[in-house]
Amino acid sequence: MDLRDTLKGRLRLPLIGSPLFIISVPDLVVAQCSAGVIGAMPSLNARPIEQLDEWLAEIRERLAAHDRAHPDRPSAPFAINLIVHRSNDRLEQDLALCVKHRVPLIITSLGARPEVNAAIHSYGGHVLHDVINQGFAHKAIEKGADGLVLVAAGAGGHAGAQSPFALLQETRAWFAGPLALSGAIAHGRSILAAEAMGADVAYMGTAFIATEEARAVEDYKRMITECGAEDIVYTSLITGVHGNYLKPSLRRAGLDPDNLEAGDKSQMSFASDRKKRWKDIWGAGQSVSGVREVLPAARLVDRLAEEYWAARRALGAHSPLVNPRWGRMAEAAE
Ligand SMILES: Cc1cc2nc3c(=O)[nH]c(=O)nc-3n(C[C@H](O)[C@H](O)[C@H](O)COP(=O)(O)O)c2cc1C
Repeated sequence: MDLRDTLKGRLRLPLIGSPLFIISVPDLVVAQCSAGVIGAMPSLNARPIEQLDEWLAEIRERLAAHDRAHPDRPSAPFAINLIVHRSNDRLEQDLALCVKHRVPLIITSLGARPEVNAAIHSYGGHVLHDVINQGFAHKAIEKGADGLVLVAAGAGGHAGAQSPFALLQETRAWFAGPLALSGAIAHGRSILAAEAMGADVAYMGTAFIATEEARAVEDYKRMITECGAEDIVYTSLITGVHGNYLKPSLRRAGLDPDNLEAGDKSQMSFASDRKKRWKDIWGAGQSVSGVREVLPAARLVDRLAEEYWAARRALGAHSPLVNPRWGRMAEAAE
């Protein structure tokens, strides 16, 4: 079944709260799903592996309790992120737990493998693979992913370098399946823009770091509320792959954000016992200026929903710049 059929009528907003290394935990996922948007968590945030089994059971139980208490507004499905990089020594075990708990949606990153997709499809689960360009996008679909997360320029974490317009336009030219768009989305208007551009859902990470349920230190959350897009630095120094980081955190770590060396890609590791090399260098995308306060995740989703519906209403009418006669001719031609 197409993911969009599975999701039909089950979301308050076309939005995925994206997986965040260390930061996404069951409290955040449950808050996101209970508020009506897809919540997601990297499997590796649960350590040791036994904790993943417990967390998956906990998420299911808490969402079921929410659904019993609120049959009028049931929770959205949740997602787990699997890092399919060769250095991830837990992939097989984590995948088996996702199959055991029948995780509705899997987001794969850093590698596309047919056997991972087949395992998720075996129980009717869906797979979105995250990509930054057409080469990776074609490979992911050829290897059996159901859809794609397009990670455009300005996104937090390992962001792409392409404009979201170009990335979506090129992908939609050959792919009609489910698409999520990420990159500096932190306003309901931008969620609507992602839909208008051809995406099915928006994909948002940075704004959820500054929520009460996120597992991030207060300083990190506050820095996000104080920074603007110019405070975001795109560098490969931290993990070996280009990503976006908060400039003040680089300075505090003694680095000169304007003169950073290139990172070493061969050092990139997703081993389950890895330590964060730069513990106090904090990732965030260019959407930071849309985040001015730390809120409970449900309040953030309330705000996004208000903004989204206001934008939909405003766009329902013709642009004041367009001659209404041409507007009516265009409608009649449809
Ligand atoms: C601190 C941080 C950690 C992240 N960790 C992961 C991760 O573990 N797995 C993953 O697939 N994406 C990860 N991402 C990327 C996000 O899931 C998502 O693509 C991105 O946040 C979307 O852009 P936005 O931050 O502009 O909303 C991370 C992003 C940030 C900012």
